[in-house]
Amino acid sequence: MKNTISINKTLRPFNCNLKIEGDKSLSIRWALLASQALGQSSAENILKSDDVISTLKCLNKLGVKSKLTRNRCTINGVGINGFKYKKNIILNAGNSGTLGRLIVGLLIHSKNDIKIIGDKSLSKRDFSRIIKPLKKYGAKFISNKGKLPLVIKGIKNPKPINYIENKGSAQVKTSLMFASLNTKGTTTIKAKKSRNHTELLFKHLNLPIKITKKKTYDLIKIQGKKKINSLNYKIPSDISSSAFFIVLTALSNNSKLSLKNVNINPSRVGIIKILKMMGVKIIYKNIKYYNGEKIADIFVRSAKFLRSINCPSSLNSSAIDEFLVIFLIAAKAKGTSYFKDLSELNQKESPRLKWGSKILKLMGIKTITNANSIKIFGNPNLVINKKIIIKNYLKDHRIFMTSVIAALTFGGKWVIHDKNCFKTSFPSFLNIIDKIKKN
Ligand code: S3P
Repeated sequence: MKNTISINKTLRPFNCNLKIEGDKSLSIRWALLASQALGQSSAENILKSDDVISTLKCLNKLGVKSKLTRNRCTINGVGINGFKYKKNIILNAGNSGTLGRLIVGLLIHSKNDIKIIGDKSLSKRDFSRIIKPLKKYGAKFISNKGKLPLVIKGIKNPKPINYIENKGSAQVKTSLMFASLNTKGTTTIKAKKSRNHTELLFKHLNLPIKITKKKTYDLIKIQGKKKINSLNYKIPSDISSSAFFIVLTALSNNSKLSLKNVNINPSRVGIIKILKMMGVKIIYKNIKYYNGEKIADIFVRSAKFLRSINCPSSLNSSAIDEFLVIFLIAAKAKGTSYFKDLSELNQKESPRLKWGSKILKLMGIKTITNANSIKIFGNPNLVINKKIIIKNYLKDHRIFMTSVIAALTFGGKWVIHDKNCFKTSFPSFLNIIDKIKKN
């Protein structure tokens, strides 16, 4: 079967109302926490992507039964320390850094060795960021120089830790928070600001968590060894998936878009702030809350004029998964945009800072890029006429989707390889594009 997609036409003006699939971070967190609860938990609008399916499969190997129907997932929790599994099991986290790093936090007390593996992309990613702090609880690990495969050699009675998390990584923070659930005493994490879904879920579950918010970090204290109640949950649409269509609309001519029930948690809306600063008109309507998470309908229209930005690095963590599409906006903006302190972007499913710069160069946009920053010399009149081939990008779902958005807005003849990789986070992505085309 052909594994490429060819695009050689830009979109006609559109006016669409869309519903985007459920949030990936929340879907994975809910499933992992539901496994630790006593009794059956249920989630509406869970994301049915490869990363979430990998999560359910890993839980299944640990003795946790789940059922996935059209729009709902139920999980029969086994309680803290309740996993039941065979000796020498192997858990495959697939492409998901979130699953791979978070599940290890739940397994530091395992009686037998558990091996975590992943696909080619995940096997290149750094796990020392969780190994180092989780060792402080007393757990032992064997890894491939801080990468997968990782063998967890658990500890019967983990000791609570004090840890300074200074990467601003929600995955590290959450892995430690999960480890604290099975640890007697108070775990303290001083965490540089990052998405706070786990904190909100812990609060919603009435777990003993205390958070002191400071300007650049949060001080999180958790009392472990408490019972977790089952959790009925409603998952809002993913802002990171929505971002592709927000940018598509901003870059298209005379178009309008509305997106229903999107998660606008303040720790995730860096893209909205950055795009507004660059001249995109975006408004929220019908703001409400689901289980502590802030939700809104988002309205966006084509941008008449885009200005460059010197992006404050304080927004980096809240836009970390959206920079590739933000770079497309910068490509069309008047002036030179500057994005800095972004070394973490090269730690994702592919080295995304490098890839962002590579795609822009193929599009004819000048950039100056180093290991942690990029300068983008925008061209408001950019029209592409040449052939562009995107391949060998470690099947990074966001590179694929960014390339599709660029092809549909700037023109040119694009051939994008690995056309199924977007299914890790956003399986309906191409169906939505078809829906917009038919509009
Ligand atoms: C995620 C956190 C972010 C993000 C990833 C999902 C999460 O990674 O890039 O896609 O669900 O916690 P880091 O926490 O490593 O920055």
